[in-house]
Amino acid sequence: MSQLEKVKELMELRAKARLGGGEKRIEAQHAKGKYTARERIALLLDEGSFEEFDMFVEHRSTNFGMDKQKFLGDGVVTGCGTIEGRLVYIFAQDFTVIGGSLSETMALKICKVMDMAMKVGAPVIGINDSGGARIQEGVNALAGYAEIFQRNILASGVIPQISGIFGPCAGGAVYSPALTDFTLMTEGTSYMFLTGPKVVKTVTGEDVTQEELGGASVHTTKSGVAHFSVSNEDDGISLIRQLYSFLPQNNMEEAPRKECTDPIARMDDLLNEIIPDNPNKPYDMFEVIGAVVDNGEFLQVHANYAKNIIIGFARMNGQSVGVVANQPKYLAGVLDINASRKAARFVRFCDAFNIPLVTLVDVPGFLPGTGQEYGAVITHGAKLLYAYGEATVPKVTVTLRKSYGGSHIVMSCKQLRGDINYAWPTAEIAVMGADGAAEVLYAKDIKESANPAEELAAKKEEYNKLFCNPFNAARYGYIDDVIEPRNTRFRVIRALEQLRTKKQVNPAKKHDNLPL
Ligand code: HXC
Repeated sequence: MSQLEKVKELMELRAKARLGGGEKRIEAQHAKGKYTARERIALLLDEGSFEEFDMFVEHRSTNFGMDKQKFLGDGVVTGCGTIEGRLVYIFAQDFTVIGGSLSETMALKICKVMDMAMKVGAPVIGINDSGGARIQEGVNALAGYAEIFQRNILASGVIPQISGIFGPCAGGAVYSPALTDFTLMTEGTSYMFLTGPKVVKTVTGEDVTQEELGGASVHTTKSGVAHFSVSNEDDGISLIRQLYSFLPQNNMEEAPRKECTDPIARMDDLLNEIIPDNPNKPYDMFEVIGAVVDNGEFLQVHANYAKNIIIGFARMNGQSVGVVANQPKYLAGVLDINASRKAARFVRFCDAFNIPLVTLVDVPGFLPGTGQEYGAVITHGAKLLYAYGEATVPKVTVTLRKSYGGSHIVMSCKQLRGDINYAWPTAEIAVMGADGAAEVLYAKDIKESANPAEELAAKKEEYNKLFCNPFNAARYGYIDDVIEPRNTRFRVIRALEQLRTKKQVNPAKKHDNLPL
């Protein structure tokens, strides 16, 4: 064979590999409203940047006639490329090849990109679309999953890991996305569950559809397993690109700085009037976030789960920041089990990847009741407390209104090593609100008074004056300054600038014992 013929043969093999499971299966994939693995990679990465690995890998199974069913590259497309010029490693399961089911060799391909990503310090993006363990391969497929999980674990906190679920993700396979930092699901075409509807029916008798059991809506509203749901794959892919723009390459680097076109001293008069006179009236924390961050741009994470707390990424003077804010518009911004878990994981992600935290506080306390106590709100609340307390990234806190009791401490207070803690003049930093406090402190006086209602109102007024303000905390230095609300953007940016060189190291240990 001449050299030219050999080159031609290579080209033919490449073309064959690019067809995955073949035209018919590609058509079937499209008919379901799904892209193929290669199409997804092409959309996700900068044009022409994809460097593919292991295109000629084939599975090694001979069971059940598998030796006659081989596809170049097997059921996953792997490699690296760039997003806005920055290196990422990627694997995309190819449903057109034996349902994207995971074989021993497929696992080896995925592990190879994960190992490369760890070697050079770049994120891994995994696109999942698979029927799970390749049944014909038995324990070798299981071992393959375990190899992937082990790498997910070791990579956690070293390189960002993002999972896109664009098709089925069932059985133990769900644990790889669960171990990664962010999971995104497409509505109507993706699902995640440990056991499918048939097994559920057999074991519990429950009738449930795939969508009801583990669709995007379930996991972004009820379970919190997934962080984002998108209506189609195009939106999913641009969301992954957007998310990645806020993240550093690894835990030794900082997130890329973007040029800031929004004046840093921009004042927003809205903020001087946003807090209602009635303390029980809500307002929308998104308006505050929008007024403070660069160009009002905010990428919300977990938008539909535990809406009483808001988390997400924004930029301040071009620097990537993680925003955590109570939402008075939803359950009065109370902290509960789900809100604590949601925010704690986000705080830990930001801390692991050198992303400063900006915390906006308006929290009336922890949600009372047996439901919460039996569900271990103590342990879950402790997670958020722990996350803030261990975080060594710059932490800037602004208290807008309520900051009561335990929830005051949890929301990045000064003693949990909050670096710069500001308060608006409307802040109420106290052990509890005036209503509760007056009734506890003066129950006897009120009962014995000729006019109990008047007495209660007077006592509330007295308590309010004394405690429900920012100056009491400021007097002790627990608040660094009381600031004009409309100047919040400038003050936070200046605080972050001041903290740019912050270095803080926790005591050496094997690892911590976070209250799980
Ligand atoms: C081998 C598989 C497969 C699998 C699908 N295929 N899943 N082959 N092992 N796990 C094959 C099908 O036989 C079919 O081959 C092709 O992929 C496409 O599948 P279809 O069933 O035609 O597609 P669809 O109708 O869209 O249904 C998709 C599906 C279904 C819902 C995912 O295929 C399915 O239920 N698969 C089995 C799921 C499962 O139970 N997996 C094991 C989970 S346990 P042909 O040749 O006909 O095109 C697990 C343990 C992991 O994963 C543990 C890790 C710790």
